[in-house]
Amino acid sequence: MEKFIIEGPTRLCGEVTVSGAKNAAVAIIPATILAQGKCVIENIPNISDITVLFKILRAMGATVRVLNRSTVEVDTTYIGEPVVPYELARYMRASYYMLGTLLTRCNRASVSMPGGCNFGVRPIDQHMKGFEALGAHVSIDSGMINAQADMLLGAHIYFDVVSVGATINVMLAAVKAKGITILENCAKEPHIVDLANFLNSMGADVRGAGTDVIKIHGVDILHGTTYSIIPDQIEAGTYMVAAAATGGDVLVKNVIPKHLESIIEKLEKAGAVITEYDDAVRVARDGELSKVNLKTMPHPGFPTDMQPQMTALLSMASGTSIVTEGVWDNRFRYVDELRRMGALIQVDGKVAVVEGVPQLTGAPVRAVDLRAGAAVLIAAMAAKGTTEIEDIEHIERGYEDIADKLTVLGANVKKMIVPEKPLQAAL
Ligand code: EPZ
Repeated sequence: MEKFIIEGPTRLCGEVTVSGAKNAAVAIIPATILAQGKCVIENIPNISDITVLFKILRAMGATVRVLNRSTVEVDTTYIGEPVVPYELARYMRASYYMLGTLLTRCNRASVSMPGGCNFGVRPIDQHMKGFEALGAHVSIDSGMINAQADMLLGAHIYFDVVSVGATINVMLAAVKAKGITILENCAKEPHIVDLANFLNSMGADVRGAGTDVIKIHGVDILHGTTYSIIPDQIEAGTYMVAAAATGGDVLVKNVIPKHLESIIEKLEKAGAVITEYDDAVRVARDGELSKVNLKTMPHPGFPTDMQPQMTALLSMASGTSIVTEGVWDNRFRYVDELRRMGALIQVDGKVAVVEGVPQLTGAPVRAVDLRAGAAVLIAAMAAKGTTEIEDIEHIERGYEDIADKLTVLGANVKKMIVPEKPLQAAL
């Protein structure tokens, strides 16, 4: 088992470069299955979720050639059985995008129920609704999601819930369906637009991504392509919050400022001074942190994937902040870990009342999920004393080289390998 050991407080100063967007990459890499020919994908983040996807592609017969640290060539000329077993699918949520791609390519697919962060119930009813509207028969049996269609036919689909995953999965199933597909009440996140741009670079006809309505004209062939993934909005936001939380001054490079508007607005309200450039933002804070109320919403609202990080910052702000989780049922599990560091946070369902304290103190904590891990990491760098973070594999699922990037910014973060302690020895 590995853990991070952090000595604080430190002010983060310097420059950090954002990697490719995890939530775009985990959709685009499965989408290479739709190509007749090779795809070269650039700006891929070097994180474990991506490694798992390469394992899944190779297990199905595809060739994945690493050209350099952030570029691969995927050749899916040969795809065997359209099955993604539990032992591979359970490590991440996005394995379920294989359903949409394999249904399009093979007219059938079997994918294990996905894993991923635990925020309470994570249903897939909207994915199934979309597949069935396109003419597929979908069933869940012994933990496997099975989909089969003699032919996929364009349909008019209204999503009951704004869902990133369902919007992506049904797009993947519709790009070669016969006729026109209209998707309404779609998610509008940057990674939806990135996937649509990737599909169109392969010869698809997808219009309206980034708005509520996406119109797809099914095509017969999708060819290979070369495509570069957009920068990660949430990784960028995480470093921005870390700079503000530690009273630092950081230039966050390789960003699309338009994707960061809601994050910039809340950080400025909290007391950060932000300067925007074409492909970078500078975040500095030397005054007091101020309380801020926020509610997470689908894009362009404040991203739910930035909620834990922002709550960590607000736990050190003067005054009381109200943080409302508007997307997930239970995304405050990490608050217990912040409380161990002295945070004063009361949670009632989807609302957290954060009473700021002048200084957090180091403590042994856990990364309960990916963004929760980022939150405790931010708190640890601002806190006084030593913090040990266990279960850091959750953090490394979504943040490329995070310990190195933070060290370059002046953080005192060490990774330590800890032998597994048998429970009886600890009792
Ligand atoms: C994606 O998850 C992201 N993961 C999540 O980021 C992110 O929190 C979420 O979108 C919201 O932005 C990836 O992209 C891999 P949803 P996803 O379907 O697609 C309900 C991270 O930190 N819903 O948009 O699983 C659902 O319960 C991760 O990078 C249904 O009711 O999220 C939730 O309340 C964590 N039925 C809401 O919609 C469905 O069929 C949004 O979920 C699907 C979803």
